Amino acid sequence: MNKFKKLFQNRVDMADYMVLTGIFLGALYWALESLLNVFSPEEISFYEEIFGPNISEVWPRLIVFCLFLMFGSHVQFTINERKKAVEALKESEEKYRTILESIEEGYYEVDFEGYFVFVNDSMSKTLGVPKIDLRFMNFWDFMDDENAGLVYETFLECRRTGKPVKAFDCEFNIDGATLYIEASVSLLRDSRGLPIGYRGVLRDRTEKKKMEMDLLESYRKVHEARTATILGLAKLAEYRDEGTGTHLERIREYARIIAQELSMNPKFSDRIDQQYIDDIYQSSILHDIGKVGSPDALLLKPAKLTKEEFDIIKRHTLMGGNAIKEIESQIEGKSFLAMGKEIAFNHHEKWDGSGYPRGLKGEAIPLSARIIALADVYDALTTKRFYKEAYSHDKAKNMIIDLKGKHFDPEVVNAFLAVHEKINHVRKEKLKEESDLIQRPAQAIGR
Ligand SMILES: [Fe+2]
Ligand SMILES: [Fe+2]
Repeated sequence: MNKFKKLFQNRVDMADYMVLTGIFLGALYWALESLLNVFSPEEISFYEEIFGPNISEVWPRLIVFCLFLMFGSHVQFTINERKKAVEALKESEEKYRTILESIEEGYYEVDFEGYFVFVNDSMSKTLGVPKIDLRFMNFWDFMDDENAGLVYETFLECRRTGKPVKAFDCEFNIDGATLYIEASVSLLRDSRGLPIGYRGVLRDRTEKKKMEMDLLESYRKVHEARTATILGLAKLAEYRDEGTGTHLERIREYARIIAQELSMNPKFSDRIDQQYIDDIYQSSILHDIGKVGSPDALLLKPAKLTKEEFDIIKRHTLMGGNAIKEIESQIEGKSFLAMGKEIAFNHHEKWDGSGYPRGLKGEAIPLSARIIALADVYDALTTKRFYKEAYSHDKAKNMIIDLKGKHFDPEVVNAFLAVHEKINHVRKEKLKEESDLIQRPAQAIGR
């Protein structure tokens, strides 16, 4: 019912009210004639007095009059309405163009070939070409092949789906300079709603992009400087024990490889993400930083240490852990130092609980320290120390297998075995770098 009511209402709204006026006049005439017939069916003098003697001429006159009223008024009404609609459209277009010209972003309309149909002032300014000249230019003229291909694909996608692409990045080449542009595209349609091209907005993000790149570069430099500083400080402690070498550079590589392998194990995948891997790479080198507090006489003693002497050496875990804890407390937020601290404290703990300083067992030992324990021992086994020769990779690997579940976490051993060839490769590379470094200064002074 409501549906019909609405339909009727719409039709009345749309109807020419003057047509209704014409119908009303026709009906009035019919009513008048009927009244005259009722009140004076024989005496038509009154009728004649009003409409003239020739009654047969009255009818057509009235009908023509009504038709004139109906159609004449209707035509006039339609013309007026159209005039109003055209004026409203003009006004709306004017407003639309004013808005387009006043916005900071570049606005473009191109045909399906990419030729400009319309651009606003900002677009012309961004491209560095007068509006009049842009009419003969193509969107792709301002891009290299790679970017043109990317944008072309985006436009095709928009044409295929009919959906706008609200933001995509591309690069424009303007007079040899690169502009970083964020653009949007949607279909341009004609008055019947048929697609005839593309239109969209361009935002010049070059300044922002440059700032981002500068910021990233600064961050990279700070990060590099920090890593180098930490490595330098950690080496000061390491030199006192091992005397030389790239032990720290090697174990951070081993730790990263093992952590990457463990991240694929469902048991650890929720704990080991890229941040964890980056952190273990950074913090692993701090594991023996506490050795700065150990006496040289014990660190470099060629004979076996007594129990008392070994107890003193064991303290390097606590000294290192506490030193990092102290630094960490000065820093806001979480940093890789949190992991460095747990590694320094726990890298001599053993899976079966026979390690030091606290005799932690199994998973009570932090995972990072379980990884470093293996990496540190593998490197000690495969390199020459003043108290032993270097063992081969295979011998070290077999010794680690023997210590699975005793010294080392079985899962960490499994991960090591899965990547041992990669670790061996890194070991060889790093040892080669080390021997090159030792030979180079000697050559430089002609010895
Ligand atoms: Fe240690
Ligand atoms: Fe070490």
